[in-house]
Amino acid sequence: DPGKLRMELIQDTSRPPLVNVKGVPLIKYFAETLELVKDFQAWPDDILISTYPKSGTTWLSEIVDMIQKGGDQEKCQQTPIHLRVPFLEFKVPGIPLGIETLKNTPAPRLIKTHLPLSLIPQSFLDQKVKVIYVARNAKDVVVSYYNFYKMAKVHPDPGTWENFLEKFMTGQVSYGSWYQHVVEWWELSKRHPVLYLFFEDVKKDPKKEIQKIAEFMGRPLPEDVIDRIVQHTSFKKMKENPMTNYSTIPSEIMDHSISPFMRKGIVGDWKNTFTVAQNERFDADYKKKMSGSDLHFQNEL
Ligand code: A3P
Repeated sequence: DPGKLRMELIQDTSRPPLVNVKGVPLIKYFAETLELVKDFQAWPDDILISTYPKSGTTWLSEIVDMIQKGGDQEKCQQTPIHLRVPFLEFKVPGIPLGIETLKNTPAPRLIKTHLPLSLIPQSFLDQKVKVIYVARNAKDVVVSYYNFYKMAKVHPDPGTWENFLEKFMTGQVSYGSWYQHVVEWWELSKRHPVLYLFFEDVKKDPKKEIQKIAEFMGRPLPEDVIDRIVQHTSFKKMKENPMTNYSTIPSEIMDHSISPFMRKGIVGDWKNTFTVAQNERFDADYKKKMSGSDLHFQNEL
């Protein structure tokens, strides 16, 4: 009975508690695939797009795929972004595993991950795989994450905003501590080929950042192609594009009527959600957590 099966799938996928893997809280299903992910064999011409969730992963994925395909919009319109840039640790009942999708992906592969450095398959480091890391200011990340938790039902219930903010500050959200994530990958960039980017820079001067990415990938492109990529990857275009806006994902998994995946795409939206008191508490805690690092974000100004 397909109706019954569907009901079981819904119940099965709906809001399981996070599971701790080596001190990192993860979505239950993703945690289940980590034993397999650990032994993943990276290839030297892979490109790894690494981010803490809600930092502009999908945006950068579309940019990187466009660069790889020489700015060919037709080629990028043929399949959804999660198949063009497979998600390493992805697992949701009823959908192929990320590592299965990767088995059928020809080189050169683009691979997405949110894993903290401690959980990255060793092979990526051994093979000196190029990494494009995107960091976004913590306050916009937590606001985006709160809305995402509500619409993507593989996450636990986020509770109230106040509650969720507390959990974010103590690293009790999926993928753990933002603070640790951005700093670990920053440290890696000192000894591994990592292009460390900021969401805010891409927003401010997409052309410059896209040029930088193309060069890092060893794919410098003519100016008119870069301009085309800027156009194609604007928030407006990506929100309308079914191949980038996740509208092809079943609504039991992502419910865009609760909050669309392509929500606002701006810098500084946190000001609409943080209270003055929350902002002060957040700043004080942020300073404590980040003071030991030479990584600096614009929002600290
Ligand atoms: P908001 O919720 O603040 O709107 P990720 O892909 O890592 O999950 O990040 C999602 C965030 O990136 C969302 O932020 C989404 O709107 C934003 N985003 C996606 N595509 C974008 C684009 N082309 N330009 C600007 N922001 C974009």
